[in-house]
Amino acid sequence: MGSNLKLNDQIEGYINSHSIKLHPVQYEIIKYNETLGEIKKMQISISQCHFLHFIIKIIKPKNILEIGTFTGLSALTMGLAMDENSKLTALDKNKETSDVAISFFKKAKIDNKINLLINNAIVSLKDLYNQKKKFDFIFIDADKENYINYFNNALNILNNNGIIIIDNVLWYGDVADQNKNDRLTLKIREFNKFINDDNRVESLILPIGDGLSVCRKI
Ligand SMILES: C[S@@+](CC[C@H](N)C(=O)[O-])C[C@H]1O[C@@H](n2cnc3c(N)ncnc32)[C@H](O)[C@@H]1O
Repeated sequence: MGSNLKLNDQIEGYINSHSIKLHPVQYEIIKYNETLGEIKKMQISISQCHFLHFIIKIIKPKNILEIGTFTGLSALTMGLAMDENSKLTALDKNKETSDVAISFFKKAKIDNKINLLINNAIVSLKDLYNQKKKFDFIFIDADKENYINYFNNALNILNNNGIIIIDNVLWYGDVADQNKNDRLTLKIREFNKFINDDNRVESLILPIGDGLSVCRKI
């Protein structure tokens, strides 16, 4: 087996300074989130911004769905990378952080391409299904307790060959440590087993940020 590089903050910083330059409004969101204290860690990492940008540029999805928007970093990242005629639907239940996200979408002049639905995501997903909406690309980054639920609902409205990406699947590395058995670690472990056993998709886990699962609907 080949040996793997163990990432630390120094290497992560080096990678980020030698990768795609972020848009000024992406930096603004990151700066804003720093004023929020502990919850700033909810945002995706810079390396995940780079990855989402690249994959959106390559796949060119027409319709993107995000589950879990917070102050907008991941939605803005995908919105800036998607084609002129593509649309992004974003789901979050928090009105306050959604208003902040919308203000950043306006600043970046892409608010006309992003529709943020403020509601419980399970309710919004059922509505989208009833409206016969279909997506080519879905990013899941909301409450971990509902990951299996989100995944099943997302798969129902994903086109064949569509992609679902799920954040936090390595959970600080705790999923691989059998001595860590707190509630959320167990939830993520259960989710990872669920999609690994699911023959509706083929999937892999990438060690970017807190771990991204990338699934393709077969
Ligand atoms: C980890 S944060 C998302 C971070 C975001 N992707 C980013 O890059 O900044 C999770 C978000 O999920 C939202 N959320 C949690 N439970 C939810 C639910 N049941 N329905 C809708 N949104 C939910 C929270 O309000 C929070 O904004």
